[in-house]
Amino acid sequence: MQFKPIEQSFAVNFNYSLHFTNEVFGSSNSLFAEIIKSYKPNNQVKLLFVIDDGVLRNHSYLLENIKSYCLNYSKQLIFTESLLIPGGEAAKNNYDNVNSIIGAIDKNAICRHSFIVVIGGGAVIDMAGYAASIAHRGVKLIRIPTTVLSQNDAAIGVKNGINAHGKKNFIGTFATPYAVINDQKFLTTLEQRDWIAGVAEAIKVALIKDKSFFTEIKKNAVLLKERNMEAMLHSIYRCAEMHMDHIAQNGDPFENGSSRPLDFGHWSAHKLEQMSNYTMRHGEAVAKGMAIDLTYACILEYISSDVLDEILGVLINIGFDLSIPVSGNKEMNELLNGIEEFREHLGGELTITMINEIGQKFDIHEINLELMTDAINSLNKKFKINAA
Ligand SMILES: NC(=O)c1ccc[n+]([C@@H]2O[C@H](COP(=O)([O-])OP(=O)(O)OC[C@H]3O[C@@H](n4cnc5c(N)ncnc54)[C@H](O)[C@@H]3O)[C@@H](O)[C@H]2O)c1
Ligand SMILES: [Zn+2]
Repeated sequence: MQFKPIEQSFAVNFNYSLHFTNEVFGSSNSLFAEIIKSYKPNNQVKLLFVIDDGVLRNHSYLLENIKSYCLNYSKQLIFTESLLIPGGEAAKNNYDNVNSIIGAIDKNAICRHSFIVVIGGGAVIDMAGYAASIAHRGVKLIRIPTTVLSQNDAAIGVKNGINAHGKKNFIGTFATPYAVINDQKFLTTLEQRDWIAGVAEAIKVALIKDKSFFTEIKKNAVLLKERNMEAMLHSIYRCAEMHMDHIAQNGDPFENGSSRPLDFGHWSAHKLEQMSNYTMRHGEAVAKGMAIDLTYACILEYISSDVLDEILGVLINIGFDLSIPVSGNKEMNELLNGIEEFREHLGGELTITMINEIGQKFDIHEINLELMTDAINSLNKKFKINAA
């Protein structure tokens, strides 16, 4: 008996919105309740909150506000429990955090018709998103990002994950949120390094896609550095819009191919974060990573030294340190191993995004390690660090 294959094919539409507000759990702000109502207009919905402890430390009223908000909108909302998670990369380095969310999902009988609401930086959001996506094969998630980087990049896309085997994002899922809410109030309490870190992702997306956005960031560099909220909100909006547009329009939202332009400058960024034992912020590492690849691009004459200096100047004006913390051949080789790790994570042919002018990207499939070493050393010479 011979059976011919049964072909299977179906398409699923993914939709979610990114909202912008101020004081999301303020008593007169109905946005959150309306979002939940859009899911179940006539029923109550259970909510399990996961909160970054760095956020709660700086916004000590938050938990009380959430509880009274849920009481206020009790026709829609049922508060079950809130879990506090240590903020920063530690959230993604410890599997216990995933287990504690899954345990709370079980304890509070959170089902696929309930919501996890995660409030925090990109790390807590990545971790909680992963836990939500595997419990019951996917519990609904609302992300409320609280850093610049999470509001303009980490929380608005389709990727969730944690670190394992000494590698960033080694374990993770592609799963879309139900909604994302950017609340500007949270940004006011960021440390300066977290205030600027996210700007690196805005510069990244501008460099690969939109020269006019880069020009705007260049013009506003000092305002951004000096915590001008209007300039920052504008940059967050445009950056988020471009990331979301790329995910939807580029034909590869779940990264089946080998090209990943939004990871410009990221092969070394991920490695530098890991080599620093995660004391370096993702955005700080992305600024260094872009500086490395841009210097390499200049050595190979893809871009002129004027363009290189213009871009490095903007990064410096915003407040980034562009020195690369490698001393000696061993560390240099470890950093360069990031190229192969980057390839392996995505699979297939090595594909690194480069630019040949501001706003214009292209892919390369080979890296000359000697010239890359020269690029890193020349950056360190420029920024006065002992070269390897
Ligand atoms: N999933 C994705 O597509 C994606 C994209 C880019 C980056 N990421 C990930 O995002 C993470 C970085 O996120 P991040 O830059 O938001 O940093 P982070 O999450 O590491 O947070 C940095 C620090 O800020 C604190 N914090 C958060 N909100 C605060 C607030 N409002 N006030 C004061 N302190 C606050 C945190 O407690 C933490 O100590 C990395 O793990 C990176 O890999 C994911
Ligand atoms: Zn990034």
